[in-house]
Order: sequence, then structure tokens, then C-alpha cells
Amino acid sequence: MLDIKIQKTTTPKEKPAKGAKLGFGKIFTDHMFIMNYTEGKGWHDARIVPYGKLSLDPSCMVFHYGQEIFEGLKAYKGADGKARLFRPDMNAKRSNMSNERLCIPEIPVEDYIQAVKAIVKVDEDWIPEDDGTSLYIRPFIIATDEFLGVAPSKTYLFIIILAPSGAYYENGLAPVGIWIEDDYVRAVKGGIGFAKTGGNYAASLAAQVKAHDDGYSQVLWLDGVERKYIEEVGAMNIFFKISGKIVTPMLNGSILPGVTRNSVIQMCKSLGFEVEERKISVDELVEAAKTGALEECFGTGTAAVISPVGKLRYKDDVFEINGNKIGAVSQKLYDTITGIQWGKIEDTFGWTVDVD
Ligand code: COI
Repeated sequence: MLDIKIQKTTTPKEKPAKGAKLGFGKIFTDHMFIMNYTEGKGWHDARIVPYGKLSLDPSCMVFHYGQEIFEGLKAYKGADGKARLFRPDMNAKRSNMSNERLCIPEIPVEDYIQAVKAIVKVDEDWIPEDDGTSLYIRPFIIATDEFLGVAPSKTYLFIIILAPSGAYYENGLAPVGIWIEDDYVRAVKGGIGFAKTGGNYAASLAAQVKAHDDGYSQVLWLDGVERKYIEEVGAMNIFFKISGKIVTPMLNGSILPGVTRNSVIQMCKSLGFEVEERKISVDELVEAAKTGALEECFGTGTAAVISPVGKLRYKDDVFEINGNKIGAVSQKLYDTITGIQWGKIEDTFGWTVDVD
């Protein structure tokens, strides 16, 4: 159990007006959570302080070798006025998986959840209430030793910031176009692909710029060895409906184990769909798109929620999926998961957690 000291701001910021276009991750609340780690002492000095700039030495290891991890989850304000989190234990556990891979000390799951709840409670009034909006929670850990040698840091900061946000993609639920990348790769087995760490995202930028220049929203990655099997989109995991079955790449060490991915698999099974977690080759996908067996495609992620994909580009071919319209399964999943998150439909899975 953490002893969290709270220092409230004396100069609160103006909150976005009701109905304001929030975008994603652009506006930040009045406070942030911070906790230090020092070798020999463990995690210490948990505190909530006014949101503001950090003062760090330019030699801090995170700036040079990227020893950092992050998470993403959301708080929702229900119709009953209650603030809720969605499966925060999954984020706490995944954070520790990422920590282990990046040689960062673990944080006990209960402490992690306590910290998330505490900062959300302090800034609860910042949870937006317009349809489709939520408070995006970004916990992250950075290596802070002032040292240019390549080694695990002996000191860290665990920080949580909050961003009232709308849809991740500018056009909300409108289907996005995805570029299947056949040149650059994101991750390989044995690497850091399964960890939520900045390096994976930095590695994705060159391909993303190329895709954007061609009018596509995101990149769908193929495996790093053969460039043959579908992996993930980077900001989301990917699902297909092929001949009535729901198919998604199996977790293989280079794919992020998404919380929404896991939830969607459970929801699809409870809706009576056969779900296959397996290797899917890009050739199988192209064939399914050509024959019409590919009925739907959607991405899943905390930020992206359920994001229908209306167009796939692979080499010289462009395939339209479901007439570039949101499919029935994608819509049903979006309605169910957001209904549970906003407390509008019964949470039969036991996924939501009250903030207090
Ligand atoms: C999330 O969905 O929370 C993520 O962390 C994806 C991020 C790249 C926006």
C-alpha cells in the first residue's frame, strides 16, 4: 500500500467546454502522479503534484538508450455519475512484463492500481462526459541515472499523466485505410515487440510517414523474419472476419498483448463466434479479400477502441472491405465494449472497476 502525499494546484486550468473537440492526447489535467525508484531503497516518495515540466539532467539514460516503458488505459464517467476504469489489473501486469524485458524494477499490481485510482480521483472533474470521450491515462517509467554507459539504470521515475480525449482517429468510427508494410519491419521474436516501450513506436515512424503520404492512416506490420505473416498495426491489434470466423494473429512474442484484444476475443466467443488465434499469412488475406471471404477487418486498442478498416493496401493491390463501411460485428463490438465502459450495459465479464 502506497503512502501517497497530495499537493493540489493553486492555479487550476480551465477545463475544456462541454462539446469541445478534444482530439487525442493533446490536453492535460491539473495534476500528475510521481514516484521514485532508487536501488537499495525500492519505489518511494509516491506523490500527486501539480502537472508541470520535469527537470532532468541531459545525461539521463532514458534520453540516450530509451530505457522506458508505458501503458495506456482510460477512465469513463458513467451515466450514473461514477468514474470507472477498465481492467486496470491487465495494464499493471503488462507493465511489469515490459519492465522485466527492459530491466526496470517491477511495481506491485496493487500499488499500480492504487496510484492510477488516486490520480484519477484527484482530477475526476476532468473526465469528459460527451459521447465517445474519456480520460486517457498514460502511466510511464523512465530511467534517470545520469550516466552515458550502456547498463540498466539504478534510478527511475514512475509518472502518470491524464488527457481528456476523444477518438484516436480524426474521423472517429469512420473506416480507416491501412498500409501493409512489406519493406520495414517493427519487431522480431526475442526482441521487444511484446513490450510497451517507446522503441517499438520510434521504429514504426518511417513506415507510418510513407503510409500517411499515400493517404493511409496506419501501417499493418508483417513478421520481421519472412515478411509473410500478419502481426499488428502498432497503435492497435488487428482482427479479420473471414468466412464467418473471427481470426486474429496469435501472440508470438513480437505482438503486443492488447487488453482490448483480449476483451474482444472473450466478447466474440460470448456472441457465439468461432475465434481463431493463429498465424495468418498475407497471402491468405489477399486471397480472402479477392474472393470476398474477407467480410470485415477492424483494429482494437485502448486508444483506438474498435476501429473499422475499410481499405487495405498490399504492394500494388488495394482492397476495399465491406464497401468501406463499418461491419455489423465491428459495430456490435464497439457498442458492447463502450456500453460496458460507460456503465450503460451490464458488465457480465466483471471488467470495470470503480475509482473509489
Ligand atoms: C493505447 O491504445 O493506449 C496505446 O498505447 C496506443 C498508443 C500508441 C496511442
